[in-house]
Amino acid sequence: MCGIIGYVGGRPCRELILTGLERLEYRGYDSSGFALLDEAQGVAESVRAVGNLGELRAAAGANGGSTSTCGLGHTRWATHGRVTEANAHPHASADGSVLVVMNGIIENYGELRQELQDAGVVFASETDTEVVPQLIAREYAGDLAAAVRAVLPKLGGHFAFVAAHVAEPGRLVAVRRECPLVIGVGASERFVASAIPAFLRETRDVVLIDNDEVVVLEADDHTIWAGAERLPARRAERVEWDEDAAEKGGYETFMLKEIHEQPAALWDTIGDRMRPDGSVELPGLGLDDATLARVERIHVVACGTSYHAGLVGRYLIEDWARVPVHVEVASEYRYRTCLAGPGDLVLGITQSGETADTLAAMRVARERGAHVVAVTNIMGSQATRDSDGVLYTRAGLEIGVAATKTHTAQVMALSLLALKLGRLRWALTPAGALDLAEELRRIPELLETYLASPAPAQVLEAAAAYADRPFFLYLGRHVGVPVCFEGALKLKEISYIPTEAYPAGEMKHGPIALLDEGSPVVVVATDGHVFDKVVSNIQEVRARGARVIAVATEGNEEISRHAEDVLWAPRTPALLSPITSVVPLQLFAYGLARARGLNVDQPRNLAKTVTVE
Ligand code: F6R
Repeated sequence: MCGIIGYVGGRPCRELILTGLERLEYRGYDSSGFALLDEAQGVAESVRAVGNLGELRAAAGANGGSTSTCGLGHTRWATHGRVTEANAHPHASADGSVLVVMNGIIENYGELRQELQDAGVVFASETDTEVVPQLIAREYAGDLAAAVRAVLPKLGGHFAFVAAHVAEPGRLVAVRRECPLVIGVGASERFVASAIPAFLRETRDVVLIDNDEVVVLEADDHTIWAGAERLPARRAERVEWDEDAAEKGGYETFMLKEIHEQPAALWDTIGDRMRPDGSVELPGLGLDDATLARVERIHVVACGTSYHAGLVGRYLIEDWARVPVHVEVASEYRYRTCLAGPGDLVLGITQSGETADTLAAMRVARERGAHVVAVTNIMGSQATRDSDGVLYTRAGLEIGVAATKTHTAQVMALSLLALKLGRLRWALTPAGALDLAEELRRIPELLETYLASPAPAQVLEAAAAYADRPFFLYLGRHVGVPVCFEGALKLKEISYIPTEAYPAGEMKHGPIALLDEGSPVVVVATDGHVFDKVVSNIQEVRARGARVIAVATEGNEEISRHAEDVLWAPRTPALLSPITSVVPLQLFAYGLARARGLNVDQPRNLAKTVTVE
């Protein structure tokens, strides 16, 4: 959560900071701020505002010929302290000499703040961050980097911050501990930011920073320190990302663009991993085939949409490979008695690779001796560092806060793993595995055809008709259950309409009481062995006056007799249907939120990466 950026170089940087922040806005957008430094004035400009980056620009006004070539900025997702201008970053020490922008949490800030207050330091905000500039200012004796190094061991928690001192206007000092921070190396300039898109237009040369390293940035140089030891120079890696990925490319929102990018995300996730004979190569897992074949149990830990992908994965792995799979939300798993151990495979699914609860759950399992694999979309993310192996989704950058293409790419990655396991364990015959591999390979194209057809526009139109409904029930069976969980989550997060999602068979044990004349019920009723059972559940809700919106397999004309609206999904084998049937539900949520005039890319209270517990 929160996006931070810093710049030091030869160019006036006001616009570079503001544009960079706009690229980081997906990480948090309840308030923002920036500060610029120069030799003459120390702090040449400092602006903070409540609201998104548009509000900051409005508060800052026109450029006015700013010449500062060093600055730092922040876009916030509040953790400690309400959303106010005083709590927005940058935060300063009481004497105004030190400025800090931070992402993450200082867990022992209460004690630190008390100690500082006892020593007479006056605080200006309610945030945990403010202890950092206050501590640095007290340590400062003419060398900002030395002061930061002295303060670092006192800080508990996980964070990334950038600090500046008014007496050193050509220098920034940055630190990370389990929160993302990368350096961009340009010609006589250095960027530091929470994520690469913040400076991708300016430079593609990136240096990664490890936990607890202190980086000193100047226009022509950057040095990396571990405690008092200066580390050898680290080579920059060149990033080949498509710059358009950070732009909307003609779509009205990032979310809609990313929904349409799903075929490409799926193609890329399959990529070179599938051989013509249907066998699958996943070299990053960190396990040889013989060991993988002997895996006794699989635990999946994840949050939100990634958890839903894990639920789909369970059906696939258990059916194709006959390995028992336990799926749990990471925030619960991390605090239960962990029974994973040697012989178990733990999959930590996290598109960002930074979700605090998922990282903690992976760590718990790893300490117990399980083999931990991160299923993630972000190279070099913390999850890749905290695991024994990695299975990358290759969805490209996802900016919309509501996950879409990373979810379907996760399900595809898990399908590849299930297929590989099924073959290794001889739970699938080579011919059976080849058939499934071919079905998997067809999915991106099926989805591409679907997205280019009139169907998506029809879903958006159908959704708009429900814009005033106060509540939706989602039902499904078998693989339709995680699909309806995901569809319901998409709707609540971008339209703010309460939803319940239930296995259809559970409905009569309670949720049916919610239904009334005209209540909208979304039913995942794709073809498969539970189709007739789902139709029976549809009859039950219709008998109570509910209005049914069914997600059904293209060509199944029967469903039209049972539903007021049908959202079609491309035809696939039943077990693979979650990859395609979730797409109409993404569009349904999108259409409804749009009809309600909401900002789908920046839903309230949410952030793209959840680096707090
Ligand atoms: C919902 C959504 C969240 C994330 C969750 C986990 O659209 O995006 O529920 O899925 O915060 O995030 P990652 O996958 O980054 O661990």
